Amino acid sequence: MYPIKRNRRLRTNEVIRSLVRETIISPNDFLVPLFVVEGKGVKDEIPSMPNYYRFSLDMLQKEVKELWSLGLKSVLLFVKIDDKLKDNKGTEAVNPNGLMQRSIKAVKDACPGMLVMTDVALDPFSCYGHDGIVQDGIILNDESSEVLAEMALSHAQAGADFVAPSDMMDGRIVEMRELLEDEGFLNTGIMSYSAKYASAFYGPFRDALDSAPVDQVDVPKDKKTYQMDYANRFEALRETEMDIEEGADIVMVKPGLCYLDIVRDLKNEVDVPIAVYQVSGEYAMLKAASERGWLDHDAVMMEQVTAIKRAGADIIASYFAKDVVKLIS
Ligand code: PBG
Repeated sequence: MYPIKRNRRLRTNEVIRSLVRETIISPNDFLVPLFVVEGKGVKDEIPSMPNYYRFSLDMLQKEVKELWSLGLKSVLLFVKIDDKLKDNKGTEAVNPNGLMQRSIKAVKDACPGMLVMTDVALDPFSCYGHDGIVQDGIILNDESSEVLAEMALSHAQAGADFVAPSDMMDGRIVEMRELLEDEGFLNTGIMSYSAKYASAFYGPFRDALDSAPVDQVDVPKDKKTYQMDYANRFEALRETEMDIEEGADIVMVKPGLCYLDIVRDLKNEVDVPIAVYQVSGEYAMLKAASERGWLDHDAVMMEQVTAIKRAGADIIASYFAKDVVKLIS
């Protein structure tokens, strides 16, 4: 009868459980996505994302101050612009006085210590709602990468600490890295969305930014020619290794929960920090179920973010960041 193993000994009470707990969530784990719109005094709730908002610049400044006071020190910016400013090449994306460029400055003015990351992709600026330039029904790769590099440079010039290309064009990381180096932005980091899947979980986000692919002949209705097929596993490693070789400082898996196998694969194979994006649809599902009383919001939220970290995430981009930090403080 020796040795006698009883695994439940380590679960006897909360004190011993907390002593042996492997994964601890803290404010330092989070990157907070924020949506910005033009206007003044705007704090506009996104219908498919309860308790999540689009902020005008003044309200954005209030928000980042609150985040900072809660210990949330990194944000990821997205902007929603007027349809009139959209075109196929995303010209507005490189306007030095565009909404993104002003948002970066507004955050830094309000909260100089805040780490600012910015989304780099054409979709919120594209009249077709695609991440790159559309021609004859296809999304051009190299031409899009060039524009994306210009966009990254423009964000760096406005003061972004990291640019976060979410577009999935091939070769865009090296394109952007070289341009940033050439222009002297040696310390501007790149967080690459490396394994970004063509997912139906992005729906609420596209509502928030009005950025869905438009329904028009010769415009692809989905992003499957650039975002990854969710049936694929090994391809994620290939994509990620290439991005690292091209100069990515941080890599990302997106969405979160359905892709934790991929997160663990990458964690075991690569040696740069891994971010995981718990996306809008994941947020919406829990909000909806808990509104109906079908799930315990806080308990499920903690289980989910802990699972993401346990799987191997060093950074969690999540709309729950504020809820989590308030809960654990
Ligand atoms: C844009 C972008 C998307 C998301 C982040 N950046 C949408 C998309 O690729 O269609 C999704 C984030 C979310 O759903 O929370 N390239």
